[in-house]
Amino acid sequence: MGDRDITVNINGKDITVPATMSAIQAVWHAGHPRVHGVGCLEGVCGACKVFVRRAGRSIITTELGCQTMVEDGMQIIFLVFPTPNHHTYQLDDFKNSWDTQAQFHQIFPEAAHCRHCGGCTKSCPVEIDVEHGVNLATEGKFREAGELFLECVMCGLCLTSCPEEITPNHVGLFCRRITAYFHIRPSNLINRLEEIRKGEYRIVEG
Ligand code: SF4
Ligand code: SF4
Ligand code: FES
Repeated sequence: MGDRDITVNINGKDITVPATMSAIQAVWHAGHPRVHGVGCLEGVCGACKVFVRRAGRSIITTELGCQTMVEDGMQIIFLVFPTPNHHTYQLDDFKNSWDTQAQFHQIFPEAAHCRHCGGCTKSCPVEIDVEHGVNLATEGKFREAGELFLECVMCGLCLTSCPEEITPNHVGLFCRRITAYFHIRPSNLINRLEEIRKGEYRIVEG
């Protein structure tokens, strides 16, 4: 055991690892091949959700395993759960923005039942005010709600916390999509796409 080695408990097993590692690196270092719950390793894909309890503390936090540095006495449990997929819609079915709020409530009827318990916000590893985002969406403030969810990594931790089975991350994605759908894109983007369509813009490698 080196000077900077520490002991952590991951998924019920004590392992001794250097203190400079993330939870995922620690698992690999200990010789446990881990495939499920691992993706980008950059805090972007949301695949590596974990429960964390730090030594001497009673609270459990929800974090991303690739962004959580191990600490002596830390307990970590990797969470793997399927993402529910019961909200289906086609943006082409939205004929004008006036009907969007009514259609939102048809697609996400449970969103109006938010109990304001704050569980989703507490569980979010990237510190989004999730509850507020859901409530903005139910009020039809889709642009504001979409902006709140810009940093969402779709880890799904918020939906596991929700007693009303609301899927806040799907609500956030809807808000971002519908906002983009009814807004004119930036002119430089439109012009560049037109250049590509006409074959006037080419990527030169070398
Ligand atoms: S809003 Fe939900 S899905 Fe998005 S990062 Fe936060 S907890 Fe994860
Ligand atoms: S966990 Fe569900 S019920 Fe609680 S505040 Fe978040 S969306 Fe509302
Ligand atoms: S592996 Fe992608 S967020 Fe951690």
